Parts: sequence; C-alpha cells; structure tokens
Amino acid sequence: MLCLVVLLVLGCLGQDVWGCSCGRRHPQAAYCSADFVIQGRFIGKTQHKTQEQGRVKYEIKTTKIFKAPDGMDDIQFLSTPLMESMCGFEHHISNKSQTFLITGHVVNGKLEIDQCNFIVPWASLSAAQKRGFQEVYRKACSCNIVPCYSGTCSLESDSQCLWTDVLVHWQEPLNGAQSKYMACVDQGNGLCTWESQKPSAIAARNKKAISATKEE
Ligand SMILES: *[C@@H]1O[C@H](CO)[C@@H](O)[C@H](O)[C@H]1NC(C)=O
Repeated sequence: MLCLVVLLVLGCLGQDVWGCSCGRRHPQAAYCSADFVIQGRFIGKTQHKTQEQGRVKYEIKTTKIFKAPDGMDDIQFLSTPLMESMCGFEHHISNKSQTFLITGHVVNGKLEIDQCNFIVPWASLSAAQKRGFQEVYRKACSCNIVPCYSGTCSLESDSQCLWTDVLVHWQEPLNGAQSKYMACVDQGNGLCTWESQKPSAIAARNKKAISATKEE
C-alpha cells in the first residue's frame, strides 16, 4: 500500500503537464544547471514566422545578469515552444514593470526557456533566495542537491545535500524551508552542508567568524 502511495506521488511530481514532464528542483540546483540566469521584465511577445515555426519569442528588458555564457553581456530575446504540451512557457504580459527571475538554456547559440525552468516574479522570492541568486548559489555549484522522494534516502558523497522539501511539501516543495531559506554550501573541505541564508543567520555566522579571528 505504501509502495502504491509512493508511486502515485512520484507520478504526480514527474508529470506536471501532459506531454511535458519536469523534475522538481531546489532554486540552487535550478541556478547551477541553467546556462543563464537573469532578472528582467517581459515586454513583448511575437510568434516566429517562417524560420522557426512553432516557437514564440519573448522580448525581455534585462535588468541584471547573474549567470551567462562568456561574452554575453545583454539578453534581449528568449524563445520557447508555442505549445504548452511541448513544455512551452506561456506568459501573459499583464504588467511590463513586473520583474522576474528567469533561468534558461542556450541551444545552438539561442536562448531558450520552457516550463521546466525556474521563472518566478522577483518579488515572490525570499530574501535568502534573492541573496542566493545574487551571490551564494554561484559559489556553491560544486555541491549537489539530491531530491529525496521517500523516507529511505541516503547520501552517496560528501558533496551532496538531501532535499527533503519534496517529501514534506510534495505539492509545493518550493515552499519548504530548504528551498526558501537554505543553500547547500561547501564548508571548505569538499563537505557540503545546508546553511541558512536568513539575514539573522548570516549575521550570527559573521559575528562568530570575527570573534574567532580575535581569539587567534
Ligand atoms: C506593476 O508592477 C509594478 C512593479 O512590480 C508595481 O509597482 C505596479 O503596481 C504594478 N502595476 C499594476 C497595474 O499591477
């Protein structure tokens, strides 16, 4: 019976939309696996004509680039499949002033997004996540975040952190504490552990580091 429940949960997690299935990812994992991560506004939408049928092109006003391939200093257009069943990212531009965090991939030199990417209003991110995208995640990509879908997960190497939000909040794992407030950070010796990125926790760590220096 328990097996059945686990299978059902796994099935639901994997199959977000018919024909398009995305695994859930911690924001840090989304940052690390993306080719580009930006902050920007959706300002226009056009359907590709002859060259690339079946695709939609969004015009973006990029306000910050957190990650991009070398030499790419502006990002203006993002392409996505027209059909949602092909994982196309459907965005209704209701407010061109609203800023989003957008992750995506570079395919044959072109910038692409789809439903499996992490694309959310910037204002919906927690302070810890904003800091994560701005500086923490970049330095933590040697660590691997492994989703735990059942009660019997274990780590296979020092570089891994178990992401248990999937288990606790399986419908909305991004609302879990690890997703909202934590990053999986290398402690300096290849050992990665969850570390709170809440402003209060960072202040406490800094204070501790300063007093440790004084004692030396
Ligand atoms: C549009 O977004 C901006 C920035 O998020 C906000 O200040 C403004 O109130 C929004 N306008 C409307 C009409 O929702």
